[in-house]
Amino acid sequence: MHTIKAIYPGTFDPLTNGHLDLIARGAKIVDQLVVAILRNSEKGTPLFTVPEREEMIFGNVSVTTFDGLLVDFARQQGAKAVLRGIRAISDYEYEFQMAMMNRKLDPELETLFMMPAEKYTYVSSRLIKGVFQLGGDVTALVPPLVVERLKAKVPNRLQVD
Ligand code: PNS
Repeated sequence: MHTIKAIYPGTFDPLTNGHLDLIARGAKIVDQLVVAILRNSEKGTPLFTVPEREEMIFGNVSVTTFDGLLVDFARQQGAKAVLRGIRAISDYEYEFQMAMMNRKLDPELETLFMMPAEKYTYVSSRLIKGVFQLGGDVTALVPPLVVERLKAKVPNRLQVD
């Protein structure tokens, strides 16, 4: 029998409802989905530590962390595919480059793209952090546990609620 294991890699700093939406969609299509948090992101100092980010992902999907090349990690895991979300055309260029580079590095690994629900097309971890730090309400856009952890992590934000 043919089973498909896929990796859903990312920074997840923090997890958003858009990520959860994609995890749910991906888990319906592939047999095994591994959410993989990049340990050393090039995106600068993260707001949340890796164990904190791991804890904020729930559901019946396995969660792990990785370092180094995604293609090496995927091979180690015996995964045939990488799952990535595309929200808008602006994501396309970055995603296309990564998919092509990953294909060059490992021609056997396919990248699968899925689109999150329309209502999450503008949601990103970067915007969530920025809006929250300035006192904005992000409760409809991230899981309740993430709101709790944001409040604990950024206690001196401007209070509007
Ligand atoms: O959530 P992000 O930041 O968009 O995820 C980016 C991620 C983690 C998928 C990407 O940076 C990655 O795969 N990094 C691992 C290093 C690697 O394989 N680089 C070459 C990719 S072309």
